[in-house]
Amino acid sequence: MERTKIAILGAGFISDIHVESYRRFVPEAEVVAVYTRDKGKADAFAKKHGIPQGYSDMDALLGECGCDIVDVCLPNCLHHEAGMKAAAANKHAIIEKPLCMSLGQADEMIAAFKQNGLLLMYAEELCFAPKYERARAIVESGAVGPLYMLKQCEKHSGPHSRWFYESDKSGGGVMMDMGCHAIAWFRYMLKNAPAKSVYADLMRVYHDTDAEDHSITILEFEHDGKRVICVAEDSWVKHGGMEDKIEIYGEKGVCYADLFKGNSSLVYSVDGYDYASEKAGATTGWTFPVFEEAFNQGYPQELKHFVECVREGKTPIVTGEDGRAVLELIYAAYESARTGEKVKLPFYREAGKPCALWQP
Ligand SMILES: NC(=O)c1ccc[n+]([C@@H]2O[C@H](COP(=O)([O-])OP(=O)(O)OC[C@H]3O[C@@H](n4cnc5c(N)ncnc54)[C@H](O)[C@@H]3O)[C@@H](O)[C@H]2O)c1
Repeated sequence: MERTKIAILGAGFISDIHVESYRRFVPEAEVVAVYTRDKGKADAFAKKHGIPQGYSDMDALLGECGCDIVDVCLPNCLHHEAGMKAAAANKHAIIEKPLCMSLGQADEMIAAFKQNGLLLMYAEELCFAPKYERARAIVESGAVGPLYMLKQCEKHSGPHSRWFYESDKSGGGVMMDMGCHAIAWFRYMLKNAPAKSVYADLMRVYHDTDAEDHSITILEFEHDGKRVICVAEDSWVKHGGMEDKIEIYGEKGVCYADLFKGNSSLVYSVDGYDYASEKAGATTGWTFPVFEEAFNQGYPQELKHFVECVREGKTPIVTGEDGRAVLELIYAAYESARTGEKVKLPFYREAGKPCALWQP
């Protein structure tokens, strides 16, 4: 069977990880083209990864490169436009998180892909991270009994590109950027159980941004006829490298997993060395160098699954509908942070970007 052809839109941080993941772990796929707005950068990215074509014109890429799947790794404000163009060009799409900027955009994208019989796949790698998947399987086997609380945290000292800090491009701060991971993982753990309410408190601690850089969100779900409280702690304020942890509490037990520090070795270095982990900063003194970073976070497993869905006509584990449900909860969180009240679901507000509800 022929290899599935992938076009990558974007040539930044996550594009590198996706291309590495396809190359090393998804032999049934090949990356045939890359787009970014600067032709020189597109060509440089193509050369670095051995990709045949670099484009600075998205329409030309869609018309010419013969791809089966468009993998959208662009800033959040471009996800909708890229997704709609992919659907119009009859391509399946993988969209990096968060799905898009508004619920209206999400509805349009979902409808466009459905109408054309195409897959809209929402890239949430925590649903594929091997350590979290092992924890989920243990819980599924009944090890901790009925669930009453989940916690997930993701923290570092702030993103690498300026657009993340400008809410017209990102849609919001850390709640939009990393809160989306927690919410997607809670929903996945709870088999997409309906969310009942959201309460959030947001802060802008020290970053130059018009959005928030620290957030606490408490969500309430109804799962198997019982209430489950979920706590998401997301921050761009914490120094000392990336942190990503889960805690699963049941009536018969508990399960903890730490994706970064728990997977790393422990090094003390007087002079430092090349790289410890994402956003780790210095490598002198005590550090926690990670290994197989992309694999341990679930990117290859996620992309392999999406390619398999396209090749075998299967329904993806995470879809455009899941991306929309996450976005709805993010909108509700910003509303809660402004009002100081719990917000009940369902919640629909058309505001162009989620954090507009926090600072109207
Ligand atoms: N799943 C994850 O954990 C994860 C991690 C990082 C990023 N992401 C997501 O991936 C997407 C990209 O993030 P990134 O970290 O790669 O960002 P980045 O800034 O590193 O790269 C963005 C790319 O888009 C290009 N670009 C920027 N503005 C553009 C414009 N106006 N027109 C065309 N191209 C433009 C840039 O030149 C660059 O190639 C975002 O949606 C982000 O949320 C997901």
